[in-house]
Amino acid sequence: MQRADATPDLDAWRGTARVLLAANVAPADVSWAAPGSTGVLFADVALVADPAAPRAHVPARFVELAADGVLHREPGAHALLYRLLWRLAHGEHELLADAVDPDVRALALRVGAVRRDVHKMHAFVRFHAVDDDQYVAWYAPDHHILARGVEHFVARFPAMRWAILTPDRSVAWDGAALVFSPGVPRHAAPSPDELEDLWRTYYASTYNPARTNPKLMRQHMPARFWPQLPESSAIPELLARAAPRVEAMLDPAASVPAARSLPVLAAAARGCTACDLCGPATQTVFGEGPEGAALVLVGEQPGDQEDLAGRPFVGPAGQVLDAALRAVGLPRERIYLTNAVKHFRFEPRGKKRIHQRPTASQIRACKPWVAAELETIRPRVIVCLGATAALSLIGSRFRISAERGRWVTTHWADALMVTHHPAAVLRVDEVDRPRYEAELRADLALAAAKLDGL
Ligand code: URA
Repeated sequence: MQRADATPDLDAWRGTARVLLAANVAPADVSWAAPGSTGVLFADVALVADPAAPRAHVPARFVELAADGVLHREPGAHALLYRLLWRLAHGEHELLADAVDPDVRALALRVGAVRRDVHKMHAFVRFHAVDDDQYVAWYAPDHHILARGVEHFVARFPAMRWAILTPDRSVAWDGAALVFSPGVPRHAAPSPDELEDLWRTYYASTYNPARTNPKLMRQHMPARFWPQLPESSAIPELLARAAPRVEAMLDPAASVPAARSLPVLAAAARGCTACDLCGPATQTVFGEGPEGAALVLVGEQPGDQEDLAGRPFVGPAGQVLDAALRAVGLPRERIYLTNAVKHFRFEPRGKKRIHQRPTASQIRACKPWVAAELETIRPRVIVCLGATAALSLIGSRFRISAERGRWVTTHWADALMVTHHPAAVLRVDEVDRPRYEAELRADLALAAAKLDGL
């Protein structure tokens, strides 16, 4: 049995896993030991490379998942990752696409928990002023996410000097670089009383009115976070001013990069944690198609197959759409296809993942990405496929039953129309299906004619 170091860091795990794999050590023969535990680690004994060892084919997707999965606090992450790596190296190249495989599922759950934890850290870290120009926060994340979550604060407070202390590790930003140091137990953290008024002033400018919604409070702010919120006394006054700011405050536009090109946007959207869908979903499914597309089609959200493939409209609804596009002579490769929401929302039921409509706040959280795509492409024509895309781009007053197939002018294009979602063609009963399909095709034909006419 080999003893390997289970430091919660991808590079450390990768270095160890590489050596183990090259020496052909099977997962069952490795015992991953928590950092600091006693005993001889294999790094202290020579492991000999085995010429019969397989060459690892490591998909980028695995590295991406492993980077988050390794941060999960429960023991077993390192063993799980090594088991997956071993299986990938032993010919199971499609392993990651098998969402019901127990190892793949276990990794997805860990990744989801870690990403939700990063999201919570961004929302709930509270800085206290402890010196003239020095702010300190004490925070206890569920997982080893400090290094993963800290860049958010660098982007948000680049000119301040601050430190985030956690029981595992601490990090300080001096305006130029991050320095990591050992953790700080709760009793050693600076007292929140020190300059709390200053914090209250700061909070007044960043106050999130959504917190006054009891349902959102329960959903987003578990009671154990409340002691870290020293601002309660400012709430009544802030509430009085909250209503007009709700819409703007919920908009996470800050995470959209200023430099606009589709690859830059797609790369940035991969790390988006603006809503809770980033946790359970496999990956962000960004739009796809040419930057100079004259026509953009906006769907609802990726489905099960799109979530696994990382591409929009590749599942059953995509087949209906492809057939409709072919029927009206619109080549898919000349169109930009995207969704109002970039993560799959589902409810697990046994081995299945059942599609759930995104909520209004999830649609709102994702809107900056669709808006950035449209601003980058500047299409001549936009077609919203279904009510979710219409809600995102036009607003809640739009009624698809009354206004389907009509042109409206928008900020992003001269002509925008809403039509049926291709999944609706699959969902309606057999009596209505031919009509839905004919209407979808007729509306896409109108879009093709519009392109010719504009
Ligand atoms: N449904 C959508 O709205 N988008 C997809 O990408 C797939 C199904």
